[in-house]
Amino acid sequence: MDKMLVNGGLTLNGDVNVSGAKNSALPLIFSTLLAEGRHDLNNVPGLNDIDSAEGLMTSLGCTIKRDKAQMTIDVPAEVETLAHYDQVRKMRASILVLGPLLARFNKAKVSLPGGCAIGARPIGMHLDALEKMGAKIHVDAGYVVATTTGLKGAIIDLPFATVGGTENIMMAASLAEGTTTINNAAREPEISDLADYLTTMGVQVSGAGTSTIKITGQKELRAGSHQVIADRIEAGTLVVAGALSGGEVRVKNCRPDHLESFLQALGQMNVQIETTETEIHVKGCKNIKPISIVTEPYPGYPTDLQAQIMTLMTQADGVSHITEKVFENRFMHVSELLRMGAEIDIENKTATIVGKRNLLAAPVMATDLRASASLILAGLVAEGETEVNRIYHLDRGYEKLEDKLSGLGANIKRVKNKS
Ligand code: EPZ
Repeated sequence: MDKMLVNGGLTLNGDVNVSGAKNSALPLIFSTLLAEGRHDLNNVPGLNDIDSAEGLMTSLGCTIKRDKAQMTIDVPAEVETLAHYDQVRKMRASILVLGPLLARFNKAKVSLPGGCAIGARPIGMHLDALEKMGAKIHVDAGYVVATTTGLKGAIIDLPFATVGGTENIMMAASLAEGTTTINNAAREPEISDLADYLTTMGVQVSGAGTSTIKITGQKELRAGSHQVIADRIEAGTLVVAGALSGGEVRVKNCRPDHLESFLQALGQMNVQIETTETEIHVKGCKNIKPISIVTEPYPGYPTDLQAQIMTLMTQADGVSHITEKVFENRFMHVSELLRMGAEIDIENKTATIVGKRNLLAAPVMATDLRASASLILAGLVAEGETEVNRIYHLDRGYEKLEDKLSGLGANIKRVKNKS
């Protein structure tokens, strides 16, 4: 398994470009199952999770060609409707093939994703909604088996603004008869990006980005082309790198308007931020102020930027707090930060971070995608050479992060493990 070696204490300066959004590209790739033909997706990031999605789509009979950030997906008239465990276990988002397969072929057999490090992450809300739309669903030997005589529009009241649940329902509703209303829908920018492509394919969608989305299904949809939005979580991660390192970093090709809560929090921490429509300029500063944040569904503070801001909080002049309200177990980076000299205490869902700690390099272990980013960030400020192990977690969601940080002046290199 590869590891990353990060030598801390260097000031970062310069420009860095953000890649396309992983959490938008994944549902977009699976949404192409809704329409036969050639789909063209642009600004697709080069990530292990995208490779996994490509593997799953190929196993269903689609033909995918990639040329850098350009992805072409040829979807045949008939596809395999079994999403095998071997494919699904690599990435939980694979459950997003359920809605499109059921909507277009009236049947689907998709392996249950299984839990993951940050929580059980059940899919009951996805299944309840599809049953309301006329699906018959049972679980058999670890697979969700769904059939329908034809999905019908329904009114879905989501108990929680689930991102994946909202996406599965939107895609299922795209070929259902009639109109589906999703109440308490997720409002993330990735939801709006998916709605834009469904609209391109011919679906009538309104309300994306608000808590109520209406989708009027069509008999048939047509393949099209789409540009994936910038990855707001990668952008936020790079902004924290700039804030920590004391230099001047310009994060480019991003959407500051997708990061309002995050940028507001950084402003409260006295981090100097300037934005244009597609750039975030961050000036590192010495007197970082402590703050308290609570993670919530969009437009609240994003849970995917919780681990990263925690690393910044270790450098603040005082005590900060983070309450994690989206996932039940998303503090695993804490024990690794403690190994580097951070002073953090967890009580129930709230972490208390004592600031002004000089972090010291240590061998640490990545446990999940965003935790691995927080450890890399800690390595940027820690004295000495930090070794971050199990870096395959990072490669799921960050495209060439070591190259992007090196380009800003960081001393970071990947050590490939021979085995
Ligand atoms: C998406 O996951 C993202 N992944 C996650 O990003 C992100 O953290 C999450 O949304 C929240 O913003 C992708 O988009 C591929 P949820 P998803 O359904 O859809 C509970 C990253 O780091 N829930 O909104 O799985 C669930 O257990 C990843 O890029 C149910 O209880 O998130 C969780 O506690 C990590 N029942 C909460 O809702 C359900 O049926 C949020 O889950 C569905 C969800």
